[in-house]
Amino acid sequence: MFRLPVDATLDLVLLEPRHAPMLFALVDANRAHLRRYLPWVDGTLGPADSAQFIAASLEQFARGQAVQVGILSGGVLAGHCGTHAINWHQRRTGLGYWLGKDHQGQGLMTRAVRALATHAFTALGLHRLEIQAATDNVRSRAVAERVGFAYEGTARGAEWLHDRWADHANYAMLAEDWPPKPGTTPR
Ligand SMILES: CC(C)(COP(=O)(O)OP(=O)(O)OC[C@H]1O[C@@H](n2cnc3c(N)ncnc32)[C@H](O)[C@@H]1OP(=O)(O)O)[C@@H](O)C(=O)NCCC(=O)NCCS
Repeated sequence: MFRLPVDATLDLVLLEPRHAPMLFALVDANRAHLRRYLPWVDGTLGPADSAQFIAASLEQFARGQAVQVGILSGGVLAGHCGTHAINWHQRRTGLGYWLGKDHQGQGLMTRAVRALATHAFTALGLHRLEIQAATDNVRSRAVAERVGFAYEGTARGAEWLHDRWADHANYAMLAEDWPPKPGTTPR
């Protein structure tokens, strides 16, 4: 099964059906934390929903349509990240990600997104990666900026989040700018 080792303690792995209870437990324990910016959380009501998500992710991976992976930190499922549907005609896609609350603040997502970007630009040969975050999602924007994605502007009213239209801060990285030269990113 697909596994992208990031460093000694961090791995990105294609989740399998057996991971469904673990994935659901992580989402379930982090509902309030995750739902603020992730509308799908309210529709994840039991392990069967996580199993369905994993089955869809496996199929998308097998068809070359997307790469969606669990984040294992020290062997523990800490969160999830991946590409949205890949536009192979234009060789571009978006990235999405989330972590359990207790797994924040350790640089896990920054390292995961770096590894995912390297995989997307080298192994997959993509040309453009995008990250879209609600303008007030400070932590998500910080990940994009820390990894070196360029801010390209704000899309107004881009996403319905429960009870409001959220503006999106749009970030992107191009293959020719990867990896960012030392000194061009804060970290
Ligand atoms: C967005 C989200 C994944 C960001 O998590 P995060 O923990 O802030 O991001 P990282 O894992 O990259 O960790 C960065 C933090 O670890 C610190 N850190 C420690 N070691 C680090 C390292 N080696 N490299 C980078 N940062 C490191 C950073 O200083 C930063 O700390 P700070 O929060 O005090 O500034 C998380 O907040 C989340 O899941 N939110 C809810 C879902 C969501 O909004 N998803 C995105 C939708 S667009």
